[in-house]
Amino acid sequence: MEFNAPAGENLFDKARIVGKSTPRIDGPLKTTGTAPYAYERHDVAPDAAYGWIVGSAIAKGRITSMDVEDARNAPGVIAVIAAPETKPVGTSPYNHAPLFGGREVAHYHQAIACVVAETFEQARAAAHLIRTRYDREAAEYDLAELAPQAPLADGGKALHKRGDFDAAFDAAPVKIDATYHTPDESHAMMEPHATIASWKGEELTLWTSNQMINWGKEALGQILGIAPEKIRLDSPYIGGGFGGKLFIRADAVLAALASKAAQRPVKIALQRPLIFNNTTHRPATIQRVRLGATRDGRITAVGHENWSGNITGTDGEDGTAQTPKLYAGANRMTANYTATLPLPEGNAMRAPGEAAGHLAFEVAMDELAEALAMCPVELRIKNDPGAEVPGDPSKRFSERHLTRCLKEGAERFGWSKRKAKPGQVREGRWLIGMGVAGGYRGAPIQKSAAGVRLSGDGMLIVETDMTDIGTGSYTIIAQTAAETMGLPLDRVRVELGDSRYPVSSGSGGQWGAASSTAGVYAACLVLRRAIGEKLGFDGDSADFTDGAIRANGKSFALNDAGEMSADGEMTYGDFQSDYDLGTYAGHFCEVAVDAYTGETHIRRMLSVCDAGRILNPLSARSQVIGAMVMSAGAALTEELAVDRRFGYFVNHDLAGYEVPVHADIPHQDVVFLDTLDSVISPLKAKGVGELGICGPGSAVANAVYNATGVRVREYPITLDKYL
Ligand code: MOS
Repeated sequence: MEFNAPAGENLFDKARIVGKSTPRIDGPLKTTGTAPYAYERHDVAPDAAYGWIVGSAIAKGRITSMDVEDARNAPGVIAVIAAPETKPVGTSPYNHAPLFGGREVAHYHQAIACVVAETFEQARAAAHLIRTRYDREAAEYDLAELAPQAPLADGGKALHKRGDFDAAFDAAPVKIDATYHTPDESHAMMEPHATIASWKGEELTLWTSNQMINWGKEALGQILGIAPEKIRLDSPYIGGGFGGKLFIRADAVLAALASKAAQRPVKIALQRPLIFNNTTHRPATIQRVRLGATRDGRITAVGHENWSGNITGTDGEDGTAQTPKLYAGANRMTANYTATLPLPEGNAMRAPGEAAGHLAFEVAMDELAEALAMCPVELRIKNDPGAEVPGDPSKRFSERHLTRCLKEGAERFGWSKRKAKPGQVREGRWLIGMGVAGGYRGAPIQKSAAGVRLSGDGMLIVETDMTDIGTGSYTIIAQTAAETMGLPLDRVRVELGDSRYPVSSGSGGQWGAASSTAGVYAACLVLRRAIGEKLGFDGDSADFTDGAIRANGKSFALNDAGEMSADGEMTYGDFQSDYDLGTYAGHFCEVAVDAYTGETHIRRMLSVCDAGRILNPLSARSQVIGAMVMSAGAALTEELAVDRRFGYFVNHDLAGYEVPVHADIPHQDVVFLDTLDSVISPLKAKGVGELGICGPGSAVANAVYNATGVRVREYPITLDKYL
């Protein structure tokens, strides 16, 4: 069914299950080790052999020889597949760099061979017997060197102007012009990319770890040259995705090829060191922000230029993404440039664009506030754009409550105690500071389908290829189905992640929660109508509560319907294109910086979020605090160090790539304004999974400045940079 006008009052406004904090259904399974991850599916493939992937030792050039004989003859080895014997495979519209290279090497740790053996240890030992010779090509790996010549992204379309930025900036009595650097970053999810592949004739099944089941099926069909209908993907439990599992990766492709060669199921987990250079990452950015304002703090000129790079020269990290949405200003210019940079493939990582963009733009706002001698909360409120989108006046915001987020946050955080002048508050050796940032992340909505089935004995089963990457999809889908069918939560069973089920939105771009629940609602409505037809009432207007149905003054039991099933899909009408759908937040942070060593501790964090109806405050909070941790990591610790001679990320393991640990993260508070958005879907809900990484790191950076008086514009803000 099509959602073709803003939702009026509906059953979710009187919800009893949706909107209530509900522990995650998969929580006990995951925390007790009883949720099987892809690599642990002993039930489906007890005879699986083990695959080990070999990555290229050079970043660019070609393989001149590869000797695999010793590996083939090693104990336990069943098959060896090696790049020289194959054409490169593994490019599709969903991924750019080849997932299993031929002789040409496009990036470091590109998969060049796979050894299959009876045991993991035998596969690993044999892989080390492969001798590969290379002809290495020199290349430029330094973004700063490549940036000045980088072309505009999107075939030249990535330049947006409104009014006359140059003239307004020149004329502005108060202005700032600052350049920021964000490094390459990695997903570093707990569960590595992993797949068990099994062939039955021409039919291929993959038990894998993937956010977007249908994309995966389509991509694999293209990569392997077989019809997607012959492929089944199953991914019921996922130990983190963050964008790194949006697309099929080498584990899936090589498990499929190796399984064919070995003539038995093969399981492959990407070794942790391969994840950093073999998969995708968030590309580094260089961002120049220029802001001009009147003396009383009205912004008149907004300029934001962004440079990044990617192996393809396309799809870099667009740090300007939030800039058209956040603050007023009649004269504007954003430009996004992408260089061709032969590092491993850059691709979506949690809030691609905005996560890096806020680290520049929301710090520039802090710099402007200081230049104006104005409170940075007040500056943001003063430049609230109202209903019209500053960068695109043809659209208006559906719901946008950034000012409320900032006001409520300032009140709760005790912002009035902040000293405007930096370096003023000291507790012994600690310099104390507070920072604020605004936050924006788009709220896209995608069509999504589901099937629902009444078992006849009181259970409702929901089936959709939606995934739960640790976000709580199982739970919000169960809540939605329970609410719509008038059943208690424990009468609903949710089955996810199997490509045999109806095609959902999948998990990406923080659209999963809003989109997949709307699809399940659509399927439930189809079922309600079918039940009504069978029992003689109007399924739309009947009251479904507690397993009973009241309609036309009569009462039925849901069980009277017997066994029934229905499929439904929610799609979206053109009316939405008049609106800009987004989520907003006010982020606050207090830090302490050791005056002698520069050691930085975060003391408190608060995020106040405007993200539509919150379907499950408990799992939504969990999403936001996780994202705040990731944003703190981006501000203070995370960086893939580029070896500029040999073109790879040096710190390719969890010891060298520093994500925050418990000791780095103190008290975190999350507040949801529960602002309903009737334009987005019948549930009036939006996602929060990416909003939480848009801005908290900027609040950290601004707090560090407030504590120390040192403005570090190169992330991560490590202590050496205070000097
Ligand atoms: Mo997200 S970066 O679309 O998983």
